[in-house]
Amino acid sequence: MKTHTLLMPLDMHLHLRDGVMLENVAPLSAYSFSGGLIMPNLVPPVETLEDVKAYKQRVMAAVPNDYFEPYMTLFYKNYDKRFLASVAQDIMAIKLYPAGITTNSDGGVSSFNVEEMRQTLEAMSVLGIPLCVHGETNGFVMDREAEFMSIYEILAKNFPDLKIIMEHITTKAAVEMLDKYENLYATITVHHLLFTLDDVVGGMMMPHNFCKPIAKRPEDLDALLSVALEAHPKVMFGSDSAPHPRSKKESAGCAAGVFSAPIALQLLCEIFEQYDKLDNLQAFVSDNAQSIYKICPEFKEIILEKRPFVVPDDYGNVVPMYAGRVINWAIQSVE
Ligand code: NCD
Ligand code: ZN
Repeated sequence: MKTHTLLMPLDMHLHLRDGVMLENVAPLSAYSFSGGLIMPNLVPPVETLEDVKAYKQRVMAAVPNDYFEPYMTLFYKNYDKRFLASVAQDIMAIKLYPAGITTNSDGGVSSFNVEEMRQTLEAMSVLGIPLCVHGETNGFVMDREAEFMSIYEILAKNFPDLKIIMEHITTKAAVEMLDKYENLYATITVHHLLFTLDDVVGGMMMPHNFCKPIAKRPEDLDALLSVALEAHPKVMFGSDSAPHPRSKKESAGCAAGVFSAPIALQLLCEIFEQYDKLDNLQAFVSDNAQSIYKICPEFKEIILEKRPFVVPDDYGNVVPMYAGRVINWAIQSVE
């Protein structure tokens, strides 16, 4: 049987939520990943040192039997230098959301005035805290990410020592930015390596494939595949796995978010094998993130095997991406 081994896989963009949902989904990520960058868009958002510490405790309590490192983030505000210095050791990054652009982002940034943000972003540069950005404007939905490129350029130029991570990129325009500015990096999800808009609304409407940013055009998919498959050193895997209860997805007014964490590595194996690039998967799912974030996760070895695997119809009240479908790789063992 064909197998493929991955060491210390990392999910550098992960929504674990809180309460019952956290207890349901955290073990699924902890099973196959060594760690994850935990998004702060709770209600209310993670904004203080106390919030960060308490949320980290709740995440760790939800995965008692697995080794899993939650790399914590704060929800971006124009924080002052003193506060940032006090929290720097406890967070891996700060996540910026434009106000109202996606799930639980109402308290995000409503104006990208560099002078208003300067104090915070300069302090983050000095303290070595990366800025993770949900890069969408409030324009036409298919153009939101491309329109945000001018904001990335302003940020990259004004704060050359700030590591800026363009989260869950979906466009050729974003891919092209990677080689233009030294301080711009990106995460890519697994669903954006498989979907175009057709997979969301091309036939019947597929609520479980609906997320922000929405999947784009075939040429965008090709551009994402090209940098992921070569494991471009400035690109990392971040699932953006974003669970919502079934009732919020199969509903008039469907919440944005694809729940992919439990099948992410299996699907990545399938994609990388299809393009004969399995040798690059280790860099895409772990090594690049280790260099970019300067992290050194504890040893964990995942062996995947090539055999048909039926994706469960649900995990509790959450429906995964590809529910009920047969995929070609499965997890054989974890050590
Ligand atoms: C995410 C969520 O549900 O928290 N939703 C999504 O569609 N990706 C938020 C986000 O990352 O945009
Ligand atoms: Zn997200």
